Amino acid sequence: MSKFAVSIVGGGGTVGAAILDQLQPHFGSFDVRILSSRPSSDFAEAVRQGFTHCQISYSAPAEELIEVLQGTQAVVLALSSQQGDIEATSRRFLSAAVQARVPNVIPSDFSGDLDAEHLEELLVWNGKRAIRQYVRQLQSAIEQDANRQQAFSWASISNGSFLEWALARGFSGFDVVDRRARLVDDGVGTFATTSVATVAEAVVAVLEKFRKPDGQALNRSFHVADAVVTQRQLLAYFEKHTGATWTTTAIDSDVQLADGLALYKSGQIGPGYGKVITSVILGRQVRYADVATFKRERVRQNMKDLGIRAKEGIVEQAVADAIAAGREAK
Ligand SMILES: NC(=O)c1ccc[n+]([C@@H]2O[C@H](COP(=O)([O-])OP(=O)(O)OC[C@H]3O[C@@H](n4cnc5c(N)ncnc54)[C@H](OP(=O)(O)O)[C@@H]3O)[C@@H](O)[C@H]2O)c1
Repeated sequence: MSKFAVSIVGGGGTVGAAILDQLQPHFGSFDVRILSSRPSSDFAEAVRQGFTHCQISYSAPAEELIEVLQGTQAVVLALSSQQGDIEATSRRFLSAAVQARVPNVIPSDFSGDLDAEHLEELLVWNGKRAIRQYVRQLQSAIEQDANRQQAFSWASISNGSFLEWALARGFSGFDVVDRRARLVDDGVGTFATTSVATVAEAVVAVLEKFRKPDGQALNRSFHVADAVVTQRQLLAYFEKHTGATWTTTAIDSDVQLADGLALYKSGQIGPGYGKVITSVILGRQVRYADVATFKRERVRQNMKDLGIRAKEGIVEQAVADAIAAGREAK
C-alpha cells in the first residue's frame, strides 16, 4: 500500500516542528514533505530521518504553489500569525490546494473556539475566522459542483492557550526573571491550556482520520486541552519551585480589554493583540471566556474521538521548565 502524502507548510515554526516530531514514528504510513522558506540545510537532520524538504516562498505565484502541492493527499498549514498576513497567505495555499485537488486540509487555527459567539467584537481572531469561513466556502463550492470530481475534507485544532509558549512569552502573566505576576481579575479565571506536543498529536490523529476515511468528510474542529488552570494555581507552582513569594500586580480585564481594542483599532496590532488576548483568556468574565472556555464534555469527547489523552502533571513541569529557562537567560 502506498504511503499517504502529507505536506507541512511552515515546518520550521513552533507548531510545524512539533508536528514533524510527532510524525516521525509514523513514517510507515506517511510520506512527509516539509514546505518551508528555509533552505534544506536547516532541515538536514529531518531529511536524514526521512522527511523530504522543498523550499518555497510564501509570496510565490499561485501556479507555483499548485505545482508544489500536486500529488499531496493532505496539507497542514502551520503558518505564522506574526510574520506576514496569515489570512492572505492561508487563502493562497488553500486555494492552491483545491486547484491541485488535494483532498484534505488542516488550516493554521490552533487557537480557541473560532465559532464562539461575540468573537467578532474582539477583533483579534477575525483573520482566523475569515480563514474558517473561506474553508467552508471551498467545501460548499466543491459539494455543490454537479460535475464534482474531487473530495474535500477539512479539520481544525482548537487548543486554547499553548502552555509552554504562553509561559515563555509572558502571555500567562508571569515574569520569571523578576518574579512578578500580573494577575488578571485576581487570577481566578479558568482557562484551557495545551502543550504544543498534544496539539501536534491531535494533528497527527486527524491525519490518520484523513488516511482512513469512514466515508464522511470531517469538516469540523476538534477541541483539545491538557488542563484547565487559573493564574493563582500557576502562581502557587512558581512560588513552590522558586521557594519565594512573588510580587503581584492587579489587572482589571475590562480596562485591559478596552485598552487593547483601542490600540488594535489604532493600528498598534502587536500591543493591542497581547492585551486583548490576555484579558479575554485570563479574565474571569464569562461573556468573554467563551473564546477559551474549557468545555469539558466537548474536549473529553473530541480527544476520545482522536484517540489522544491529556498529559497529567504537565502544568507543574512546564512551570519548573520556565523557571530553569529563566535562570539560564539571567
Ligand atoms: N493558542 C496559542 O496559544 C498559540 C500560540 C502560538 C501560536 N499559535 C498559532 O499556531 C499557528 C502556528 O504558529 P507558530 O507559533 O508555529 O508560528 P511561528 O513559529 O511564528 O511561525 C511558523 C512558520 O510560519 C512560516 N512563515 C514565515 N513567513 C511567513 C509568512 N510571511 N506568512 C506565513 N507564514 C510564514 C515560517 O515557516 P518556515 O520557517 O518553515 O518557512 C515560520 O517558521 C498560528 O496559527 C498561531 O496563531 C497559537
